[in-house]
Formats: sequence, C-alpha cells, structure tokens
Amino acid sequence: MWRKKYSLALIVTLSALFIHDNSSAQIYLDSTASIQTRVEDLLNQMTTDEKIGQMLQLERGSVENNLSRLSTFPVGSILSGGGSVPNAGNTPLKWANMYDSLQTYALKSRLKIPIIYGIDAVHGNNNVYSATIFPHNIGMGCTRNPELAKQAAQVTATEVRATGLNWTFGPCIAVPRDIRWGRTYEGFGETPELAQMFAASEVSGFQGDTLNGPTSILACAKHFLGDGGTIFGTSSSALLDQGNTILSESSVRLIHLPGYISAVNAGVGSVMVSFSSINGLKMHGNKYWITDVLKNELGFKGFVVSDWRGIDQLNNDYKTCLEQSVNAGIDMIMIPQTTAAADMQSLVSSGKISLGRIDDAVRRILTEKFKLGLFEHPFANRSLLTQVGSSANRAVARQCVRESMVLLKKKDGILPLRKTNARILVAGSNADDLGNQCGGWTIDWQGQSGNITNGTTILAGLKKIAPGTQIDYSATGVFTNTKADYSLVVIGERPYAEMYGDAFDLRLSANDIALVKKMKGYGAPVILILVSGRPLIIEDVLHYSDVIVAAWLPGTEGDGIAEVLFGDYQPKGLLSHTWPKNMSQIPINYGDPSYTPRYAYGFGIQNFTDSPSGSAPVCLSVLLTSNPHFLELTFNKQMSAPSAFNGTFSVTQNNTTLPSSHKVSLKTGDSTTFIVQIDSIQIQRSDICTISYTGGDLQSSDGGVLQSFNSLEVINGATPTSIAIPAKIMVDNYFDMNNIFIYPLGDGDSNDSFIFGPQAMAEYFVNVPTAGTYYLTFRIMSFESSSIQISYGTQNLSVPISTTNNWTTTNSIALTLPAGEQKIKVKIPSYNVLLHWINFNTEPTSVNNGKTTPFTARLYQNFPNPFNPTTTIGYEIPAKGQVTLKVFDMLGREVSMLVDEIKPAGEYKVTWDASMLPSGVYLIQVQAGNYFSVKKAILLK
Ligand code: BGC
Ligand code: BGC
Repeated sequence: MWRKKYSLALIVTLSALFIHDNSSAQIYLDSTASIQTRVEDLLNQMTTDEKIGQMLQLERGSVENNLSRLSTFPVGSILSGGGSVPNAGNTPLKWANMYDSLQTYALKSRLKIPIIYGIDAVHGNNNVYSATIFPHNIGMGCTRNPELAKQAAQVTATEVRATGLNWTFGPCIAVPRDIRWGRTYEGFGETPELAQMFAASEVSGFQGDTLNGPTSILACAKHFLGDGGTIFGTSSSALLDQGNTILSESSVRLIHLPGYISAVNAGVGSVMVSFSSINGLKMHGNKYWITDVLKNELGFKGFVVSDWRGIDQLNNDYKTCLEQSVNAGIDMIMIPQTTAAADMQSLVSSGKISLGRIDDAVRRILTEKFKLGLFEHPFANRSLLTQVGSSANRAVARQCVRESMVLLKKKDGILPLRKTNARILVAGSNADDLGNQCGGWTIDWQGQSGNITNGTTILAGLKKIAPGTQIDYSATGVFTNTKADYSLVVIGERPYAEMYGDAFDLRLSANDIALVKKMKGYGAPVILILVSGRPLIIEDVLHYSDVIVAAWLPGTEGDGIAEVLFGDYQPKGLLSHTWPKNMSQIPINYGDPSYTPRYAYGFGIQNFTDSPSGSAPVCLSVLLTSNPHFLELTFNKQMSAPSAFNGTFSVTQNNTTLPSSHKVSLKTGDSTTFIVQIDSIQIQRSDICTISYTGGDLQSSDGGVLQSFNSLEVINGATPTSIAIPAKIMVDNYFDMNNIFIYPLGDGDSNDSFIFGPQAMAEYFVNVPTAGTYYLTFRIMSFESSSIQISYGTQNLSVPISTTNNWTTTNSIALTLPAGEQKIKVKIPSYNVLLHWINFNTEPTSVNNGKTTPFTARLYQNFPNPFNPTTTIGYEIPAKGQVTLKVFDMLGREVSMLVDEIKPAGEYKVTWDASMLPSGVYLIQVQAGNYFSVKKAILLK
C-alpha cells in the first residue's frame, strides 16, 4: 500500500517536471492526453471566477448582441430557449454562422474553453426552419420500437450538429400520470417501462458510439424527478405544470426513477432538474434526490443543469437560491441572474459553498466538453448542412409516423382505403395544418398553427399517396357534392407547451363534434383522425366515427398517416396512455384498481382484417340521440333490416328501468346502425343510461346472429342544459371550450377559477327570458392591454381591456338577444388576460362583488374654461361602478382617456393637460353604465 502510494507520487512529480520542461504546460490542449488528465490540468489553472463562469448558462438573446462578454467573462454554456433563433434569421446556415461567432469569442478568453450550446431538440431539431420534425414522444412511445427511436435520435443529433450546436435538452423521460398536464406529449407514456425503454435508446442515439463523433451531441435526461407525477386541483398545488408530486419514496422509485437508471446506464452526459416538487420540496433544492440518489447511488458522472430560472423559485433571496441549489448538487445554472457570479464568489469566500463542490461541478462540465471533442473541433461542421431536412432523414421520421399512429376503432370493409376510383372528402382544422400537426416546441416555444416550416400535411400526404383518387377538402366540411366513398375528419388540439397546455377539459370542441356529425350525415363512413398531444374525450363523436385513429403530433411527415390508411403499411401503434371515457376518470393509469377506460393502455388494432363472415356482430357503441326517444346501436358490420322482431330492448336511466321496447329498424343511409325507439321520460345530459338486449332474431347481412347482451353503456347525447339569465355565469360553467386553463386563485370569491388563452374560447348556453338588451360585465385580471371578444349569432363585440395587474372589472357591454336558448361565445386572444365571470344584467350596472346596482354619474365642474393648457374636471358617481372619462374633438374623435376604472361612490377631480393639442372646442364625456354626461371645454392657446 505504502509503496504504491510512493510510486504514484513519484510518477506524478516526474511527469509534471517533464511536461513543464517540454511545452508551456497546456496539457489540457493535448488531445492525446487522457480526459481525466486534461480536466485536472485545466482545473488547476482556473481562477475561482473562471470556475464559476463554467457553471453559468446564458440565453442566446442576452449574448448575441454582446459577444465580447464571452471573452472577458467566459461562461460555460449558451442555450436557445424555445423559439430563440439567430438574429440574422432562422436557417441552418445562419445557425452555424451564429454558433461559430459565439464560439470564436469564447475561444478568445484566457483559457480558451469552448462553450457547450444547448437547445430543446425534443422532436427533431425543432427550432430550426426546414429541419425534420419527428412525432412527439407520446407517439414514439406507441411505436414500442426503441431501435427506431434511436435512429430518430441519430437523425436529430446530425441536424443539431449541422448547426454547430452540441447539446440537446432531451430525452424528456417524464412519466405523465395525469393527461391534463400540458407536457403529457413530451413523455413516452404513462408507465415507467416506456421511459426505461426509450431513455436508453434515445441517449445512445444522441450521443452515438462515442461522444466525439462528428454527428454526436450530448443528451440531457429531464426533468429530474417526478415531473409527470404532479397532483391537480387542490388549492395548495393547483397546477400540474411545475406542481407537486405527492408520493411515497418507494412509489417515486417505482414510477419515476427507472427512466433515469436506464439513461445513466446508457451514459447520459447531463440531467435537467424539474421545476416541480416532491412532497412539497422543490427539486431544485433537493439534495437527497440529486446528490444522494442520482449522483451517488446511481453513479451518474455527467453534470446536472437547472431548468429555466428554476433555482429562482427556491427563495426570495437569490444568493440563498444559489447556495441551496449548488449544494443540492446542481452543476450548471440555466439563466442565472446578473448578480450570480458575484453571489457565488461571496458564497465561496464565506464557505457556504465549498471549493470542493465548485471543483466537482466544473470537473463534470469539463469532462463532457472534452468527451465531445470540443477543444479539437469547436466549430460547426458545415458539410452536414445538406442533411438538415434531407429526404433520407424525413424517411426515418415518416417511419416513426407510420408506427406511432394507433388504430382505435374500425368497422369492417372500410380499411385500407381504396387508392383509385374513390372519392374522399377531407375536413377538419388539423387536416391541412403543418403547425397543428407538429404541436408545441416547433419553430416557437408554444408552436404555431399554419405553414410554419417545410413538410407534408396530412391532406397533402393523402393526395401524394393516392394520386388516382379524387380528394376534396374543406376545413369546415362544406362540399357542393357530398356523395363520396369516405369522409376523413382530422381534428384535435392546437399547439401548446408547458403550463399553457394544462387543461381542465379534454372534450372535443363543439365545432369539431358538429363537424363529425355533419360529415357522418353525408352518408360515407367517417374516418376520424385525432391530432393531439394526449388522449381526448371522444364520447360525443365515437358513435359517428366508423374508424378512429390517434395520430398524436406526428410532425412534418404527414404522408406516414396516408401510407397506413391506404394499406402500404399495416397499423402497428399501441397506446402509450390509457384513453379515458370522460374527465371524471382522470387521472387514470394502467394498474389502477378501478379501470374501465374507453381504450386500455397498450390497446391498438394491428391489422385491417375484417371479422369472419357469419360471425356474431359486435355492438361498438350505443347513443341516446338528442331526441331522447331514439337510441342508435352501431355494429362492426352491415346489419340486415329486422323483418319480424320478438326480442326485447330494455333501458335503464340512473338505475331505473324504463318500459322495454320492441321497436327496432335499420338506420336509413347507414346499415351498420339500428335505431331502437323507447318511450322515455326526459333525459338530461348527466343521466347515466344502459341498454340490454335479449333475442335471437337480429342479424348481420352475412348471417351473423346478434347475441343477447346486458347493460351496455349508453352515450348520452342529450342537449346540454342552459343557464337562465340574468345571472352571474362563472367562467367554468361553459358548455364547450378550447384551450382553457382553469386557474384556482383562492381569493375568497365563490368558484375561484379563471380561464386564459392563447386563443382561449368558451361557449355558454343561456336561456333568455325576454328578447332585448342585456348588459354583460366581466371580472378580469390582465397583464396587458387586450380585449375580450363576445359573439352571438352574427354579432361580434370586442371589450377593450387595459392592464390591471390586479383584480378589476371592465366596462359592461350591451348585447341584444332574442328570447329562448342562445349560444354565446367568449374569446380571449392573448396569454395574459384571465376571466373569472360574466354577469348578465338587464340594466347597465355597477358591480360590487358580483351584486349589481344601477347607477349614473354627472360632470359638475370644468375649471377654468376656456383654459390653457390645463383644466380641472370634477365628476360625481352615486354608486360604485365602472367609470370612463374621455375627451373628444368636434369631429367625434377620441383624443384622450382620462379615467377608465371602477370607482366607489363619491366626488372626484381629474386634471387634463392639453398642451399637445391645438386650440379649439373639445367635449368631455363621463360615462357610467349607459349614462352619459357631456361638457364643452375651450382650449385657447
Ligand atoms: C423547460 C425545459 C427546457 C428549458 C429550456 C424550460 O422551461 O421546462 O424543458 O429544456 O425551458 O428551453
Ligand atoms: C422560453 C422557453 C422556456 C420558457 C420557460 C420561454 O420564454 O422560450 O424555452 O422553456 O420561457 O418559461
């Protein structure tokens, strides 16, 4: 033992002498030296400041215009956040140019340490225009094909490396346990097995056989730990995104840890910490999981990066945030505050962070940089540029699309679609929208609708694969000739990311439901294609869809869907998530004690084979139509019209048996469907109904005999009940919605929920007692000037909103409504407006915590008059309410808004400075409710 120690020391001394002698001692620049030697050599030469710099990661936006700071205060890393693209423009070449210029400046620093540049290449190099965009991970999980995922990761790595960048914030190996979470699509599925299966394959795809290969990039498993386990809906942790995972340690280990074990075993070079907490403790300060488990127990040798300003959430004092997070084991800080370097220095000098901890962090970061070969090849390899979006790369993505789509339902005789001599109608908002089929984290952080990059929409794919067939498209399903062989309806979600995707209601929008019904009404079988980041509630269209396909967020290669539908490939995908029947089943996961989903985890039809001739027909769904006297039963095959029928159908409503029925007929225009007539009492949408059948005389047209069945669940399509006005309608009393996020606030008002955008929409059914004018008041909170749009029939009104940063209520607007049940739509165009409730009144009102009183206001003073340049205006309001005070010129143009807010009863004065305006006559108008008072003011200059 002693001897060994002695000889080692001797060798070290000798080699130090030798190297000192031989060169200017830059061992770390010698590519033939071992990585460990290089790291130690470099570390020994670094000042504490330089070490701290390696631990900081800045955003491109704060560096690209200030490149020289990279030479004077070198940092370890740069990242591009979602949508953060080069100033010069978003082309692969411009990325490479930008990267090279950043690196050039970094290399001018004293020790010439190259930066490592990270980006969210989470489904292809998705920020970059013209890159190949793969299905999001939820779809990759359905392929159950880790080899294919590895190929996809290799392609992504090549397309990242072509732009010079060398690090992806992926794979996301979250195990999403509640599909209301806005990041559900970023994970491979609801089971730890999927995370495990894909973590290893993606890490090895990104990092290659060796990290310093020309097309290898560093991978980053995220978000450690438990990001997919957050709990929804309790007041203390209402949000799923960045929320709290409440689980025993053994459950955390069983559900959320296995993916990391497999990523670490595959050699992942970095891990990103989650914004979320485990049992109330924020992960960014969680030493137990980061250091004790990840680094020590699992033996993770790479470095740990924080999430976007994630450490800032630990404490109000930033220095404390740094202390807690670095001591918890975080090695690199994403988006540090400007004081970070100085704060770290003082934490080190005061001993609150040990130099040992700093050295450990820097060692880990430098090791990955050396492994990547960055010191030898710091610049972009431009020969790779031609591979970005190449047809070979797109072919891999298309294979992923084919294998990820899940066939959920099919009736006989429809699939595969005929390629020639058929007429196909295509409809729906996601049929011809590249941005929608790519989802969030594409070009922009939140993604975007429309033609955002190069690629093939689902519609274009259909046309490409079946040029010999007539394909007519109308997004809204308006066709001059509705006679066709098939109707394809492509609907689902629009792009979102992170918290903007947290959703309270995953039902299809009323427009989408109406569209499916309309297309079914044209007579041809309906093929429903869902483009979405998670399972949606499809009960409203289940019955109207003869085939259902979950296409997830397939990315740019929409032709992969067509290739399966037309039979060039067999369907293959298996669900990576349980598909629930309704919102109240959520959260639902495979293995739950009570598990009766619409489609189970792992389900997927993997062939086009029809049921054998003569086999018993299978009832696929039962619908109570909006006329509650008729039930529709639809089957997997064509049925023959009943001649004599002696069997019995019996229906229960909320466990009460209704009189049984013997009336059954084949539905006109759809011989897969029987209509059963019942004499029910009124059925509400919330009623639960079942149907049973006994008999032997109903048959399919190929002679299969329908077997008796018991208590099949009935989809209740009864019309929704409307809300009688005047009333205060809480925002979550909607009948239908899109992109709505319910945000409980806990400020004491009843039902504290708000909705917000982007492009949020909610629809309300109101019952109007008498036709006439109704005044709508909104309780809102807004962080910008914006508007709320209200539409009814052909009326479209916009309510302007100014920044409130706090609680307030906007002006009322007047809406003229006919008597009876009416549908009113509310839209919020921006992220930053939150709506709480809408009060429908019969008179213009003031608002006092939801109670309303009519009021008026008067102008009582305008002094001096004539004036130059200022005048004082006095006004009085007798009750609390929304007041505006505006100035108009003699042509009626508004020149100034002096007041726009809720004010309690009282007398007020306001000063108007008109120095910018020309001499003349102006009108000052005070308005409260629909009451006006106007005074003349004469400006004499
Ligand atoms: C996300 C991460 C992402 C990072 C950088 C964060 O908001 O949570 O997943 O890698 O931003 O864009
Ligand atoms: C960035 C994203 C980041 C997010 C964090 C956005 O501005 O573009 O990359 O994940 O902020 O909240």
